[in-house]
Amino acid sequence: MIFYFTGTGNSLWAAKQLVKEDERLISIADARKNREYKYSVSDKENVGFVFPVYCYTLSDTVFDFVSKIQLTNAEYVYAVITCGGGIGGAGGFLKSELAQRGITLNAVFELLMPDNTVFYYKVTGKAEAEKRINNAEEKLKKIISIIERHGKREIGSGTLSKPMRKLYHIMNATKRFRVNDNCIGCGMCEKLCPDSAVKLRDKKPVWIKSHCTKCSACINRCPKQAIQYGKGTEKRERYINPRLKGDFR
Ligand SMILES: Cc1cc2nc3c(=O)[nH]c(=O)nc-3n(C[C@H](O)[C@H](O)[C@H](O)COP(=O)(O)O)c2cc1C
Ligand code: SF4
Ligand code: SF4
Repeated sequence: MIFYFTGTGNSLWAAKQLVKEDERLISIADARKNREYKYSVSDKENVGFVFPVYCYTLSDTVFDFVSKIQLTNAEYVYAVITCGGGIGGAGGFLKSELAQRGITLNAVFELLMPDNTVFYYKVTGKAEAEKRINNAEEKLKKIISIIERHGKREIGSGTLSKPMRKLYHIMNATKRFRVNDNCIGCGMCEKLCPDSAVKLRDKKPVWIKSHCTKCSACINRCPKQAIQYGKGTEKRERYINPRLKGDFR
């Protein structure tokens, strides 16, 4: 059983490399929408959490999910946290949150992927992105062999990751989002938003919440690059994991 969350596809791609043929791949965004927090683990099934780090901490989506999840019969639990630079103490923070639900996190793996943080700086360019994904593919093979033998890993305390959520909350205000004339009213932004923070009004997106989870799906994946954030994003390229196709979520 693998729980995943993704904005631009890196974590979904990673989860797809990890998932076995008979294993369940569960979207955290959908589970939250359907209020599904209770899971029973079948014999010898591992439990994985695969998601991106935000501000060296857990996003609201992942935090909310792990603070409500009820898992029975979980024997081996691991996390693969994707990042554009480093995950900081996010693994330790996840461990302490899961521990409060009686769940032991046995291993955390950091996976360097292309950076999608278009809000604040350039995303990883195409050539470097390709290199990172190829390296990640190799690293995932090693991770799979560790998971198969239920390898345990020392996980840091994560004490610095919890206060980082304050910074994340300051950063995730939606007031700087806007849309330009390239918008064709396709509705993709509304459809993709895991937080129901974007709605189409008169065929243009409006951000109806003052804060979102800042997953970057809307701004990176608008087919017309019409969504902007503050002043810096007009000229910046966008990022979508090149190995995935379609309107994944
Ligand atoms: C709001 C936000 C904050 C981020 N913070 C970090 C960070 O603290 N450290 C880091 O290495 N990458 C950071 N990233 C980059 C993503 O974690 C990375 O690109 C990830 O692989 C994206 O996964 P996804 O494609 O599954 O959404 C951040 C991205 C966003 C959108
Ligand atoms: S995804 Fe882009 S083009 Fe489509 S409605 Fe949203 S802003 Fe407009
Ligand atoms: S508004 Fe955009 S960045 Fe915020 S949660 Fe929705 S899709 Fe993600």
